Amino acid sequence: MRKRVSLTRSAATGTLVLALCLFATISLAQVPKPAANVGQGNSASGRDWWKNAVIYEVYPRSFQDTNGDGIGDLNGIISRLDYLQSLGVDAIWLTPIYPSPNYDFGYDVSDYLNVNPEYGTLADFDRLMSEANKRHIRVIMDMVMNHTSSEHPWFIASRTSRDNPYRNWYVWRDGKGVTATDKGRPPNNWGGFGRSAWEWDEKTRQYFYHRYSVQQPDLNWNNPAVKQAFKNILGFWLKRGVAGYRFDAIGDLFEDPSFQDEALAKDKDGKPIVDARGNPVLERTKRFDLPASHAVMGEIHAYVHGFDNAAFPGSRLLIGETLTRSVDELAKWYGTPTQPEFDLPMNTQVGFINKLDVSTFRKRLLDAESAIGNHVPLLVFDNHDRPRLDRYGDGVHDVAIQRALATVLFASGGATLMYYGDEIGMKTTPPTRREDVKDRMGGVANWPAIRGRDGERTPMQWDSSSNAGFTTGSPWLPVPPSASEINVKTEEHDPDSLLAWYRSLIKLKKSNPALALGSSVMLDTSNNNVLSWSRQTPGAQTVVVSVNFTSAPQTVNLRDEVGPRAGSVRTLLKSPGGSDPASLDRIELGPFGVFIGEIP
Ligand code: GLC
Ligand code: CA
Repeated sequence: MRKRVSLTRSAATGTLVLALCLFATISLAQVPKPAANVGQGNSASGRDWWKNAVIYEVYPRSFQDTNGDGIGDLNGIISRLDYLQSLGVDAIWLTPIYPSPNYDFGYDVSDYLNVNPEYGTLADFDRLMSEANKRHIRVIMDMVMNHTSSEHPWFIASRTSRDNPYRNWYVWRDGKGVTATDKGRPPNNWGGFGRSAWEWDEKTRQYFYHRYSVQQPDLNWNNPAVKQAFKNILGFWLKRGVAGYRFDAIGDLFEDPSFQDEALAKDKDGKPIVDARGNPVLERTKRFDLPASHAVMGEIHAYVHGFDNAAFPGSRLLIGETLTRSVDELAKWYGTPTQPEFDLPMNTQVGFINKLDVSTFRKRLLDAESAIGNHVPLLVFDNHDRPRLDRYGDGVHDVAIQRALATVLFASGGATLMYYGDEIGMKTTPPTRREDVKDRMGGVANWPAIRGRDGERTPMQWDSSSNAGFTTGSPWLPVPPSASEINVKTEEHDPDSLLAWYRSLIKLKKSNPALALGSSVMLDTSNNNVLSWSRQTPGAQTVVVSVNFTSAPQTVNLRDEVGPRAGSVRTLLKSPGGSDPASLDRIELGPFGVFIGEIP
């Protein structure tokens, strides 16, 4: 019998724009993991390729510029595919490359069937597909279905008159107390970012709903025409060979048709909760994760997986931006056996603990694997909306800390998502002056308390030249000064670099059967300094992993737990300068040191 213990604890909140209070339900259980196609590595076929996949998030605007305009482009991504292949990634996820007025840099789409001219053309995209395919790298597109840009032709038409055929494609409501001369008040108290989520439209004298900025009006998913339009869009890119999609802001798709006010969220003492900006937080019962959103994803899952395409036989992949408050809510996004939804809804419960706390990591990691039935977890530690992994740094051992975090990310079960630049240890570098902020959606309004997301979107650091090899022109966001030391070229020549560590970890994850397929068992569980676990799968050698979460040297003894076979151990990977233990009796770890070993 599995032992399940549930307790609720509050999680760390990101200081970030989109961060919400997270609450995790912790359960202690271990279940075997489903098999993945270990050994196939970056094979372009194979049903279950994504089950231990390494997925690399590319922010195209910042990856590589090739035409000197200071903005990354598709040709730039093509020129770096060899690098990505050498890193060992199975897939790249491109944040939106569609035409966009860039209020939210692509998350405000004005045409879903084209490429933003800043990034290239459809012909460039097709070339990217074929070049990626040659290197067995799949391409995952971002799909923003909750809202469009206010400059999308659908919305432009929608706001022309109340009886325009596109009126019902968006969420229009009457205000309260509206008169011939007064716009009254919004339909309800739904807000976001410290203001009402409703915008008055003078011409048609109604309010439209926008979960995000005014420039991002929400689509009306109760209108079947909207769903049909997105099926066509999904098919358009599937035909061009994309392996799947990352669905943006998916929990926001539907609003409760009652359009009633949300209650104020209260903490356990009954006090109203306020966000990082001091604004009251509302309950999430009327417009997040509604059952209808699950039903739509079930339908889209069937549609996408059923889509015929000879270029990518086997399996498509649906990733969800599922910012749930608990792993139990996350579990629902996998859907049911008869109606699957996401293959890999994002688990942000582990990565956004934001504090090197061994016991919280241990519990959340167990949870990540055990609270989702037989599904595959997708751990996410950072992205284009959050500070980079340097947020865990102590200013002294930053590289060692990032090695430790990467180990947790890649040596745990399931698939992993990594963000460009993490592999070299890029530093979050936010703007210092308000006038330099490019992230209008996230950054300007509450300066300087919140400096937006530019800091984690700076150009990729390829070498130590003046613009880090990103552009010959003037980069759209400044290259961080740290690029002179933190860059691919420098780290490629250093066997002790973070880049070397990432390469080794990814190689192990793809090639070692226990790391690729195994289930995890937490070890030494009363230790609050070192996180240790084993990975095991029938027929393969057990792997043990120990990660020192402290700046003091630590010694652990795992022999008793691993059992009689633990008499000897063979090092697979260790931090630079680490020792090779002869047995599990005594694993010595330096500050934030890591040891990965195999029991022969
Ligand atoms: C998601 C994206 C974020 C964007 C928001 C609105 O959270 O990751 O960058 O601003 O959705 O589309
Ligand atoms: Ca360019």
